[in-house]
Amino acid sequence: MARPHGNDPAALTGHGAANHRAAGGESRRDLLAKVLAVACGGLATLPPVAAGLWAFLDPLRRTRGAASFLSVADLAAIPDDGMPRQFPVIADRVDAWTGFAAEPVGAVYLSREKGSREVRALSATCPHAGCFIDLEKATQCFRCPCHNSSFTLEGGIVNPSPSPRAMDELECRVGANGQVEVKWQKFRAGVAEKVVQG
Ligand code: FES
Repeated sequence: MARPHGNDPAALTGHGAANHRAAGGESRRDLLAKVLAVACGGLATLPPVAAGLWAFLDPLRRTRGAASFLSVADLAAIPDDGMPRQFPVIADRVDAWTGFAAEPVGAVYLSREKGSREVRALSATCPHAGCFIDLEKATQCFRCPCHNSSFTLEGGIVNPSPSPRAMDELECRVGANGQVEVKWQKFRAGVAEKVVQG
């Protein structure tokens, strides 16, 4: 009669077969435990990774934040004869992960009528393609040197002009201290609607 020998499963009987099954079960349990440990370890790292990613992308989100009122001039510096005058807009700028303190980010034309504290603000950025609009005092109009768009002193289009819309008017307020503040916003170029640039 042949005797069971070696690791031949077919040859295992009785206690030998039971031991073999027990060993197989243990190795499967070990494997399952290892898989679970790896999965749990991976899950445990998710919150700190997500938090790190959020902090890393935070400057990108902030650069698209809401516009703020910036102080651009003293009321007394704006002639009260209706003629616009140009003022730089100075702001702290955040460009993705780099901050730039107090530097020019654009310009506005401010005007007011005689004796008035009401100020009108027009962005100096051309709505056509974003060039800088000049004030031509001789011809009493605004002109963009890039493609010759012309605008009235109130910012309306003088046709023919390639600009699809009038100059962009900005919200403006005068503080009790006489400081003129402008809500600095940029708008999408090349479109007829005045759409805030996101
Ligand atoms: S950018 Fe001003 S006319 Fe084209």
